[in-house]
Amino acid sequence: MKSLANSIFILILTLLFSHTRIINLPSVAAITSMKPGDELNHSQVLDSEGGKFKLGFFSISQTNNYYLGIWYAGDPQDKKLWIANPNTPLLNNSGLLTIDTTGTLKITSGGKTVVNITPPLLTRSSIARLQGSGILVLQDETQNRTLWQSFDHPTDTLFPGMKLGYNLTTKQNWTLTSWLSSYIPASGAFTLSLESIQGAFQLVIRRRGEVYWISGAWRNQSFPLLTALHDSSNRYQYNLNLVSEKDDVFFQFDAPDGSFPSLELNFNGAIVGGGEDSRVYALYNEFCYGYESHDGCVSNQLPECRKDGDKFKQKSGDFIDRSTTNSYDNASTSLGDCMKRCWEHCSCVGFTTTSNGTGCIIWNGNGEFQVDESGNTVKKYVLVSSKSSNGKQKKWIWIVIVVAIVVPMLISGFICYSIVRRRKLQAEKRREEEYIRELTASDSFNDTNMKEKDGREVQDLKIFSFGFALAATSNFSSENKLGEGGFGPVYKGKFPDGREVAVKRLSRTSGQGLVEFKNELILIAKVQHTNLVRVLGCCIHEDEKMLIY
Ligand SMILES: *[C@@H]1O[C@H](CO)[C@@H](O)[C@H](O)[C@H]1NC(C)=O
Ligand SMILES: *[C@@H]1O[C@H](CO)[C@@H](O)[C@H](O)[C@H]1NC(C)=O
Ligand SMILES: *[C@@H]1O[C@H](CO)[C@@H](O)[C@H](O)[C@H]1NC(C)=O
Ligand SMILES: *[C@@H]1O[C@H](CO)[C@@H](O)[C@H](O)[C@H]1NC(C)=O
Ligand SMILES: *[C@@H]1O[C@H](CO)[C@@H](O)[C@H](O)[C@H]1NC(C)=O
Ligand SMILES: *[C@@H]1O[C@H](CO)[C@@H](O)[C@H](O)[C@H]1NC(C)=O
Ligand SMILES: *[C@@H]1O[C@H](CO)[C@@H](O)[C@H](O)[C@H]1NC(C)=O
Ligand SMILES: *[C@@H]1O[C@H](CO)[C@@H](O)[C@H](O)[C@H]1NC(C)=O
Repeated sequence: MKSLANSIFILILTLLFSHTRIINLPSVAAITSMKPGDELNHSQVLDSEGGKFKLGFFSISQTNNYYLGIWYAGDPQDKKLWIANPNTPLLNNSGLLTIDTTGTLKITSGGKTVVNITPPLLTRSSIARLQGSGILVLQDETQNRTLWQSFDHPTDTLFPGMKLGYNLTTKQNWTLTSWLSSYIPASGAFTLSLESIQGAFQLVIRRRGEVYWISGAWRNQSFPLLTALHDSSNRYQYNLNLVSEKDDVFFQFDAPDGSFPSLELNFNGAIVGGGEDSRVYALYNEFCYGYESHDGCVSNQLPECRKDGDKFKQKSGDFIDRSTTNSYDNASTSLGDCMKRCWEHCSCVGFTTTSNGTGCIIWNGNGEFQVDESGNTVKKYVLVSSKSSNGKQKKWIWIVIVVAIVVPMLISGFICYSIVRRRKLQAEKRREEEYIRELTASDSFNDTNMKEKDGREVQDLKIFSFGFALAATSNFSSENKLGEGGFGPVYKGKFPDGREVAVKRLSRTSGQGLVEFKNELILIAKVQHTNLVRVLGCCIHEDEKMLIY
């Protein structure tokens, strides 16, 4: 239902639209070429071969200036792709495009030349055409030779077929130049060029000649910061291309049919791609300050008084101290120039431009600003010194966090550890004492000097401390090791009184419990008259049991 309704709606729109077109179209055939003596006035357009592009006069209502330009036929944004006279506007709609007798393509008004679009080409057989790709060309008809083409003189926009780059042989350099402001196409502060930086091709934005932004090196059919242009989420999937031949290096792009592809260097120094509703920005920040290391902004030495994180924010309102305003009424400066001027002057706390986007108004002083909640006051760029996001302050915050959280954690952790350890040691000691009590509860321990049948005295068994065993065997050193028995290693040792002993460390894994140990000990003590070695006693440490001979 919905799609049917949509279709009907579109059908009605189409009928209405085509109807008005029929009424408005002049009865004369579309103009597709011009020869010397022909004129194109304000109400006429030159159609491209195939009809995709148009060339004609247009005005910018905010300034009431007139320009000659090229645009996509049917582009809802009506974006101007190329302008013949960006720096020489016409002040009224009486401009005419003509080719004079020297073969020069020019704009006249009131019988006088306003601007020569081409140099004098000195041919009577030149013919101007808007080719199917949107290039305005001037050709020598008899020699079938291109004399001049608009693609060699880009303004602020690149569209499919145009080149951004250079030809070392011809010294041709195709670069884009931003508009001065959103209403003034005159050359602004920024240029976009293709340059080789450290052996890699990059797109470079310069502000008044100084490198301002770089796209990253060309790889995998793209520039890292322009990947949004062919991202699958973008409606227009641009196909980027870099051609590098001997003396010829250029960047180009194309896009699927049915769209109005363009790449514009806007007056703020940002690359804007797209058309209709989807616009893709290559530079997300409004300005580059020189401390960013992402987004392609080139790092720069900061002025002494500026720090990392300082930035300009657009705010509606007024500076309280109005006595500190300076104006620079230079019609060739733009927002980007004013930003630089303010950023580099320590006393500057804010700036703006005049209403048409040229000239600078600069505020100095304490920077106290009264925000106008209604938003009706002209917006100004106000310096915001973000103290909390300042690098040094950040460090301090981290140090405070460490002191406030980590240190108490460490201390309490240490206390817990000590308590647990002490308890563990106490428990071990208790267990050892219990062992010893158990052991000494046996017969042979009780009856010291127990008499055997043959009347020989049985040595009383002693319990030695672990430290004693350690000292006797030099910490169970491998040199003292005599061998490895079935139940564990045997070490040679020496008592402080000089007696030589052997210490058998019963392996922990032997699984011998207290009862077995006790029995073994008593058994050995009882039968030792047949042995050469006598059991002197035992030693118990944690889980370990030792026999000392
Ligand atoms: C423009 O030129 C056409 C054809 O020569 C003419 O009919 C029309 O009146 C002219 N328009 C203006 C505004 O001069
Ligand atoms: C239009 O402006 C030009 C200068 O750009 C001037 O020479 C001409 O007289 C003006 N024409 C009208 C009708 O105002
Ligand atoms: C002019 O030259 C172009 C290529 O440069 C060619 O395609 C075209 O056919 C030529 N036209 C004539 C009339 O020779
Ligand atoms: C670059 O210049 C050379 C020499 O004029 C020319 O042969 C070549 O076609 C040019 N390349 C481009 C892309 O214009
Ligand atoms: C082209 O122009 C840009 C900007 O004006 C400049 O930085 C660059 O060096 C030029 N390239 C060549 C090859 O001349
Ligand atoms: C190159 O780009 C394509 C799509 O744009 C992506 O699928 C692929 O992973 C990329 N390759 C590398 C090596 O980055
Ligand atoms: C106006 O500004 C431009 C761009 O910043 C500069 O090149 C020019 O010298 C300035 N003109 C004057 C008169 O200050
Ligand atoms: C913009 O405004 C300034 C002053 O308000 C003026 O001097 C300048 O000529 C204007 N520029 C254009 C292109 O209208």
